[in-house]
Amino acid sequence: GRLAVLISGGGSNLRALLDACEDPEYGCEVVLVIADRHGCAGIDHAAEAGIDTAVLAVTDFPSREEWDQALASRLTESSPDLVVSAGFLKILGSAVLSAFPGLIVNTHNSLLPSFPGIHGPRDALDYGVKIAGATLFVVDEGMDTGQILAQCAVEVLEDDTEEVLLERIKAAERAQLVRTVGSMMRDGWRVEGRRAFLNARP
Ligand code: GRF
Repeated sequence: GRLAVLISGGGSNLRALLDACEDPEYGCEVVLVIADRHGCAGIDHAAEAGIDTAVLAVTDFPSREEWDQALASRLTESSPDLVVSAGFLKILGSAVLSAFPGLIVNTHNSLLPSFPGIHGPRDALDYGVKIAGATLFVVDEGMDTGQILAQCAVEVLEDDTEEVLLERIKAAERAQLVRTVGSMMRDGWRVEGRRAFLNARP
């Protein structure tokens, strides 16, 4: 499967995917990495690995719509089988969503529908839950609202700080992302109403 990856940050999820792609058995290839801001460490890493990269910052465009349009065209050029939003902090607009209907997944560092938004682990800690985790879901127009493809849980320990919990979640999250994307590309998936099924064809 051809993967296009969207990032905003360090790109540890991207790195995990790139590592997995080294193994031919994994059956996937990262064909494009796009960042929504300048200076993401993940972009340099991808460029060094010889992957096609682009930085499309909203502030470089006259409007949000034009940014979304540019993102859609750049993605379309690389003809991905799946767009993986891996720590991408912008909500995708209608141009991108309609160019890849049901073909964009996002990984989030909480057990949705609890704690959507950019502070999942902190909000989980503040709430006092004993189990936290990560969710891979199909992107729709909402924020962290799409159909859930996979979830993994980690324990919240008594002396956890936000940083420690975040790292525990991220380790599980990376493994889940690699495993689930591989399964989707190999064995397909299907969405029916609110539910998503792995190892299934539409
Ligand atoms: C991930 O934990 C993701 O859930 C959140 O941001 C983090 C991205 O990390 N939205 P990285 O850039 O892949 O290291």
